[in-house]
Amino acid sequence: EIFPTAKSGSQRVAAEIAALIRQKEQSGAMCVLGLATGSSPISLYAELVRLHHEEGLSFKNVITFNLDEYYPIDREAYQSYYSFMHRHLFAHIDIKPENVHIFNGELPKEQIKQHCVEYEQMIADAGGIDLQILGIGNNGHIGFNEPGASIHSASRMVVLDNNTRSANARDFQNISRVPRLAITMGIATIMEARRIILMAWGNKAAIVARAVEGNVTEQVPASILQQHNNCVFVIDENAATEL
Ligand code: GLP
Repeated sequence: EIFPTAKSGSQRVAAEIAALIRQKEQSGAMCVLGLATGSSPISLYAELVRLHHEEGLSFKNVITFNLDEYYPIDREAYQSYYSFMHRHLFAHIDIKPENVHIFNGELPKEQIKQHCVEYEQMIADAGGIDLQILGIGNNGHIGFNEPGASIHSASRMVVLDNNTRSANARDFQNISRVPRLAITMGIATIMEARRIILMAWGNKAAIVARAVEGNVTEQVPASILQQHNNCVFVIDENAATEL
């Protein structure tokens, strides 16, 4: 789906999320959202905050699982995805703190495997992810699943590509400060979501075209989404120029 601007695309995604939250609320159910970071979802979160303040959208029946986090990183660091999510969304809505899940980048390395197993279990205990929001990296990554990640991968610790580290260096003083590792949901974790919306704005035309129209290959992790039965790419006109 192609929109003139990131703002109008984000409004469409926010409207779907709001409808899902309200539909679940009416049947007394929880709504389980998978959330992303990066620049792409910022306008989505701004719109959700607006819907909360201006249209009474409540997040009391919402459970969230974030896709990924740097490793190691202090939760309180400006660059952590924990800080990002609170800054852009959680601090401004009525979600219950106990319903927010983000990988913990502060744990000792030897605890990460167990942490990932528990994270997957919490997703399962919540009934699985109803709707997963994704961005896309310039190299086709989803979450921090870099090219080559297995379609069977579960949540785990990964090594970041230099390409990703240099793209994300904008948030750090320089590239050497960008963590070399991260914790991410796996491709299999993402593919189990019942609905997936990938958002891409601006300078992403080449990778969007490879993901949507290219071969399905682990070298372009987002191309695997072609095999999901309920996935949409919501993009702006700039990101659509190579389709
Ligand atoms: C980051 C995140 C991804 C995100 C992607 C794109 O590294 N780990 O989840 O989708 O890269 O970022 P942006 O939206 O800023 O282009």
